[in-house]
Amino acid sequence: MAKTAVQKINSQTPIKIPTIESEAHTSPDHLFIVQAAAKGFEVIDDPELHFLLSRQISDDGDHANHLRVSVESYTGRDPNKDVARLIKEQWDLYGDLPSKDWLGWYGFEFEYESYNVPEIVLSLRSLKILDPKIEKLGSERIGPDEAFHRDFLTAWWHRRLAGSSQQERADILGHMREQDAEYRQRKAVYYESLIRRMSDFGAWSYEQTRPINEEWHSQVLEFLLSIPEHLQGTAAV
Ligand SMILES: [Fe+2]
Ligand SMILES: [Fe+2]
Repeated sequence: MAKTAVQKINSQTPIKIPTIESEAHTSPDHLFIVQAAAKGFEVIDDPELHFLLSRQISDDGDHANHLRVSVESYTGRDPNKDVARLIKEQWDLYGDLPSKDWLGWYGFEFEYESYNVPEIVLSLRSLKILDPKIEKLGSERIGPDEAFHRDFLTAWWHRRLAGSSQQERADILGHMREQDAEYRQRKAVYYESLIRRMSDFGAWSYEQTRPINEEWHSQVLEFLLSIPEHLQGTAAV
């Protein structure tokens, strides 16, 4: 009989929460990011961004693989069918947006690298257990990698905004707000079902996490759509 996450974890600790639910979700998330991030090479023609993007893709692919291996070692089964199904769910939701144009692609990056921070932190940390190897990898590797991804994407975006004429900037910001609303609307049902699935395993409830996510999103959006002080002197007019 295949060993389950519950059996294996229960033999080591007194907790009853399976790690599988969180990791089975996050492995395809990272792999979807790899696939969608690669669209950036087609919609933005800037070698500087391409170098950074290469690192993001390599990091997120590695994260996905570690999580997949962890699921496999706890359950004794190959999770790739589930991974493929969950990636398809995300392409079905957002498929046309990341490759539409550079703003569509940036909307995807902001959604997956910035706006989702509280849902990851609140959901995963409120679970009672993670695979200890993944917990260590999370703090030593995944967390710092993700901070690097957020930083370079934000810095490139702000430089691009600062280097635009007033008219172009107004167009970019208007388009990005529309884009953002589209992503949020498409994501709403998926997000609710994800959080409810996680809360079945002890994570914070949808009702607890939603206001925090909403507040985070609106503050990050306002930050992204303004030029930071250190770039204001360089902004085009
Ligand atoms: Fe990642
Ligand atoms: Fe990332």
